[in-house]
Amino acid sequence: MTPVDPLVHAHFTARAAKYNRSSHWVDDPELGAFVVETLAPSPTDHLLDIACGTGLVSKHFRGKVAHITGVDITRAMADQAGAFVDTFVEAPAEALPFADGSFDRVVCRQGTQFMRDAEAVREMVRVLRPGGRVALVHLCAYGEADRAEYFEILRLRNEARRNFYLREDLARLLRDAGAVEVAVQGWVSVEDVDVWSDTGAITDAAREGIRQVYRNASPAFRELHAVEVGERIVDRMLFGVALGVKPLAHLPRAALV
Ligand SMILES: C[S@@+](CC[C@H](N)C(=O)[O-])C[C@H]1O[C@@H](n2cnc3c(N)ncnc32)[C@H](O)[C@@H]1O
Repeated sequence: MTPVDPLVHAHFTARAAKYNRSSHWVDDPELGAFVVETLAPSPTDHLLDIACGTGLVSKHFRGKVAHITGVDITRAMADQAGAFVDTFVEAPAEALPFADGSFDRVVCRQGTQFMRDAEAVREMVRVLRPGGRVALVHLCAYGEADRAEYFEILRLRNEARRNFYLREDLARLLRDAGAVEVAVQGWVSVEDVDVWSDTGAITDAAREGIRQVYRNASPAFRELHAVEVGERIVDRMLFGVALGVKPLAHLPRAALV
């Protein structure tokens, strides 16, 4: 049995009450619409929302698919998802309790950074029907020039995070899991850093540490993120929106070598 990471579970249990107000991106209708457009669902589709949290990704698929299943390990988050998912299943993404080929579309936003990500993405592709589509939507560094500083900011915001990404990492995860036609788009979200860091599960020292990284940021970081440092600190954070398709004759990469 796949064990649930107690640090992750405790973090999101502590964050659940504030989660829906903890960033601009979390409930941004434009980002939601972009994710729906990327996955291009049909009205008869069954959607699986991995790490559904409070359901704010599923929300945008309501009325556009036939059925939405949400999966998460944190009950306090999923307790708020009832209006958006048809079925909730409490399970770790690394061991999904679904048969192969059960879903037409799979989405995971801001989830795999807390998981054994290669295992989780393999599971996403396994439960997808051949020809089905999977999307990963995750905050990424812009590139080599900002990765050290941005990863430090992300680490300070959430000590439970285990993975940090560039856009190409999302593409690699999908390809390694057997997905094809992999493509990554970018989405920039303008975030007030004080709002974004006020998660309800963070120390004052860590929030101040985040502000310090922004105040001392390198010119390359400031330029890439178009950082504004004044009374408020504003960052233009980058999401990688990675899409993959399950091939009609699916063979996991491990079976090909
Ligand atoms: C940042 S929230 C994202 C919620 C939602 N996807 C969204 O974009 O608003 C991360 C979620 O991942 C869930 N999670 C973390 N590790 C998980 C795992 N191994 N399996 C399933 N869910 C997990 C957490 O409980 C939490 O609800």
